[in-house]
Amino acid sequence: MMQRAHIIGTGLSVPERILSNKDLEGIVDTTNEWIVRRSGIKERRISSPDRDETTTHLSTQASRRALEMAGVCADQLDMIVIGTVTSDCQFPSTACMVQEALNAENAVAFDVSAGCSGFLYALNTVNNAIQCGTCRTALVVGVDRLSSIINWLDRGTCVLLADGAGAVVVTSNPGEGGILSSHLKSNGKFWDLLYSSDGNAYTPSILKGLSKKSFHLNMSGNRLFKQAIECLSSIAKDAMKHNSLSSDDIDLVVPHQANIRIIRAMADNIGIPMTRVFTNLHKYGNTSSASIPIALDEANRGGLLIRGKNVLLVSFGAGLTWAASIMKWTM
Ligand code: COA
Repeated sequence: MMQRAHIIGTGLSVPERILSNKDLEGIVDTTNEWIVRRSGIKERRISSPDRDETTTHLSTQASRRALEMAGVCADQLDMIVIGTVTSDCQFPSTACMVQEALNAENAVAFDVSAGCSGFLYALNTVNNAIQCGTCRTALVVGVDRLSSIINWLDRGTCVLLADGAGAVVVTSNPGEGGILSSHLKSNGKFWDLLYSSDGNAYTPSILKGLSKKSFHLNMSGNRLFKQAIECLSSIAKDAMKHNSLSSDDIDLVVPHQANIRIIRAMADNIGIPMTRVFTNLHKYGNTSSASIPIALDEANRGGLLIRGKNVLLVSFGAGLTWAASIMKWTM
């Protein structure tokens, strides 16, 4: 009988330090009103190395919460796949660091790099491994600490981006539901709309203590905005069509949390009212690969994900990459 991948636990971890829009007014030429109107973001979490809020630590905390909810011990994991572009080290992978922290000695561990789509790329990898029978139980994490590569002189990006981690435990089960399908796309023609480059790090005094790296994130926000709406809408429609589902059949959309205007435009294009779209970007900003698993955990613990509900996950990010997955919730 065909095995399906089912999510059986979710968890999140975000840094303690809250950076409000008001705080950003003291760093760059911006206003709370501009940031809220253009993006929907009110505050975000920024990691503090003096609190040991590393990429590995945030991932490990989120993973422990997901494992606890799933009732799974770390040594039962066959696979750990992590979507990130901001590992603590160039190598080894964050997944191997997390494997060590969890003592998940029986897992194979590796990272995938797909910008903000990293979590859905990682989930797709695990879904395929489960369907092939090469994996039974896996941990999938989306984590990023974009604060480590933000150019704090660039008001077009530093007001949007943030840090966090989310995790899910996935297990193989021949039963109905679980991940129904998963869809990935990329187009390298647009790589230069969002990338990290060489540059001299500048850290404003309010954020003293941030680790400095010698590369900054560059973004063509306006062009990316249009691409994001187009890509999210088309892959969400493809995913629904693939499963013979209409927009009325989708109970909850959990999209990548980049900008409320992008999310509203996508929802409009695919015919799903915002009452069925989960958003939390006002609290966390754009946490890149972490945004979907953080949202999924909040929706799950908030009682919005009930057994039998159809959930659409949809993301967009650097590469360009974009992805969608539809699942029937079975927790
Ligand atoms: N505060 C005040 N003004 C700002 C600002 C800020 N933080 N950032 C940019 N501006 C200014 C610009 O300099 C520009 O001024 P000008 O007209 O004098 O040149 C003006 O606001 C409009 O800029 P524009 O880039 O056209 O605004 P926008 O409506 O496109 O919104 C973004 C900007 C970045 C919010 C929007 O383009 C966006 O969200 N893009 C997608 C980003 C994204 O999601 N990236 C991650 C993908 S995973």
